[in-house]
Amino acid sequence: MARIAYDGRDAAAFEASRHLSDHGLAAWRAAVDRHLSPGPCTRLLDLGAGTGMWAGAFTTWYPGMEVIAVDPSAAMRARCSHPNVLAGDAADIPLADAHVDAVWVSTVIHHVPDLAAAAREVRRVLRPGGRVLIRSAFAGRHEAISLFRYFPEAVRVLDTFPSVADVEAAFATVGMATVSFEPVPQVTSPSLRELAAGLRREAHTPLQLITDDDYAAGLARLHRAVEVAEAPVIDALDLLVLR
Ligand SMILES: C[S@@+](CC[C@H](N)C(=O)[O-])C[C@H]1O[C@@H](n2cnc3c(N)ncnc32)[C@H](O)[C@@H]1O
Repeated sequence: MARIAYDGRDAAAFEASRHLSDHGLAAWRAAVDRHLSPGPCTRLLDLGAGTGMWAGAFTTWYPGMEVIAVDPSAAMRARCSHPNVLAGDAADIPLADAHVDAVWVSTVIHHVPDLAAAAREVRRVLRPGGRVLIRSAFAGRHEAISLFRYFPEAVRVLDTFPSVADVEAAFATVGMATVSFEPVPQVTSPSLRELAAGLRREAHTPLQLITDDDYAAGLARLHRAVEVAEAPVIDALDLLVLR
């Protein structure tokens, strides 16, 4: 069970407001390039692929790569732009043993109820020596994510997410260890004004899980800040790579 419903409303909000521009994706491409050297027959699993932004990006970045998207939410799969999308979740991946060369897991790990079971299943579908790339906001790491400045009550929600150490411990049980951990600064929006105009509460787990009053107070803070901030909004999520 995910922390939020990922029903039609959440899926529509996610699709409308959480896709990064090519500019926003550029830093991630550079980061991924440091850890993957895909050949023409490389297979990548996008686990918890949602509406398919990353599956599409990997397909564009690495011509010839086979990208398999898996997601448990029928509403997210229905809006997934990637043609190869299957029903499944982190503890039940509908792929054969050692089927993929790499696994991409973006802003999903906090929805996984049993990290050890997920680590076992990811290890099963991954070829020996393959890498898992986890993109996430981890517990304790809100400082570089702008929304938490305006919605400080949401930090309490973030701090219930798995920490880096929690994820490393789960993967250690299947013999996988960290090869890299780095914050990746991304351009989330060209300006705070555009971010505020497009913000959809349903698209952000930490904003769904604060009270309505806290959300309203945060929105007021954000709209006040819009008046003085002109710069692009840069957020750093983390990339944890395990092998
Ligand atoms: C925040 S969205 C991220 C979507 C996509 N990875 C992205 O970064 O654009 C989280 C996704 O995780 C999926 N999800 C929830 N629980 C999951 C689980 N146990 N295993 C795999 N995916 C899960 C949801 O259905 C949703 O599509």
